[in-house]
Amino acid sequence: MVRIRAAIDDLVPYDGGPGFEEFAHRFGARGIAMLAGNEYPTPPFPEVLDAIAGAATGINRYPDEGTARLREALAETLGITPDCVWPGAGSSENLTTTARALGGQGTSIVYPWPSFAMYPINAVYADAESIMVPLDEAHRVDLGALYGAIRDDTTLVIVCNPNNPTGSYVTRAEIHEFADRVPESVLVLVDEAYGEFVAAEEESSIVPLAVERPNVVVARTFSKIYGLAGLRVGYMVGQAPTLRSLRKAQSPFVVGSLAEVAATTALRFPERVRERFELNRRGVEYLEGALSDRGIRYVPTQANFIWLRLGAGTPGIVQELLEMGTLIRKGTEEWTRVSIGTESENRRFVEDLDLVLRRRRS
Ligand SMILES: Cc1ncc(COP(=O)(O)O)c(C=O)c1O
Repeated sequence: MVRIRAAIDDLVPYDGGPGFEEFAHRFGARGIAMLAGNEYPTPPFPEVLDAIAGAATGINRYPDEGTARLREALAETLGITPDCVWPGAGSSENLTTTARALGGQGTSIVYPWPSFAMYPINAVYADAESIMVPLDEAHRVDLGALYGAIRDDTTLVIVCNPNNPTGSYVTRAEIHEFADRVPESVLVLVDEAYGEFVAAEEESSIVPLAVERPNVVVARTFSKIYGLAGLRVGYMVGQAPTLRSLRKAQSPFVVGSLAEVAATTALRFPERVRERFELNRRGVEYLEGALSDRGIRYVPTQANFIWLRLGAGTPGIVQELLEMGTLIRKGTEEWTRVSIGTESENRRFVEDLDLVLRRRRS
């Protein structure tokens, strides 16, 4: 018998749900509503697809290990220097690598809960203790409690903003205040996977703070508003020496050349990002309105998904929706999460939910 580390053997792996192709095939003509992954619901920009096709003949070569073109393009977009950018195979890879770099026996990682399912898994990979801090009553990340949970052995504290799965948001000023209090020996990681969807503040990103402080980093991704989830590319922003150290825990060549080309090209179209932002807000308004009309509680969202309360029986309702081809994310016993989809997917979700709830009442 091979001797797997006990902590890994006991781990419940990340649940990625069914793949798109497989799920679509199963439901054939009725079609599906894929509202479980918080991806962008429509294909990437046409110029991005052209760029990928154009670069495909070069994939017999290894990619550029330094991802110079992407770092330069991001630096220009964000108004920082390229050495303050560190790309990864999706921001979840940056998060895993960061945990690995800061973990080890006798360390702890503090993060809000419920939040992104990878945080506890990363703590196990990193051989660090997980300290989960409950959200406040409004389902927001409780920064006061997060600060209070930091111990002498804590090396990493994570703020997910907007928080997945609740869509709640803490302001930039609140995060600044929090970062001011956290000891310099603890890395503050602000996960802005959904940062481009925020409507609450014109400037919501912590990027400027991250380039100012050696113990603050921001993780962002091309998987969401840019619609490149299938390519796996994200990045972290921080001070160069901090990123250089974290990067030592990363495997080589994790960002493929097609991912780099796609992300670099996507950055040239900020007006399309703005359109997607607005389209998402329209979806949010529609779904929040439909939930209000039905007396269903939800957390007002700053992201591209909504955390809603279906009450006792929620897992069964989610399962019934899945059997109709409408896939939403499993949540808790009483709450669940639906991603904002296309207009027709959003409508389909509401219609299917009505059907399931009516069936259960009769
Ligand atoms: C909060 C949060 N962070 C990070 C990610 C990782 O995204 P990716 O690895 O696709 O960049 C996700 C994906 O769902 C997320 O919800």
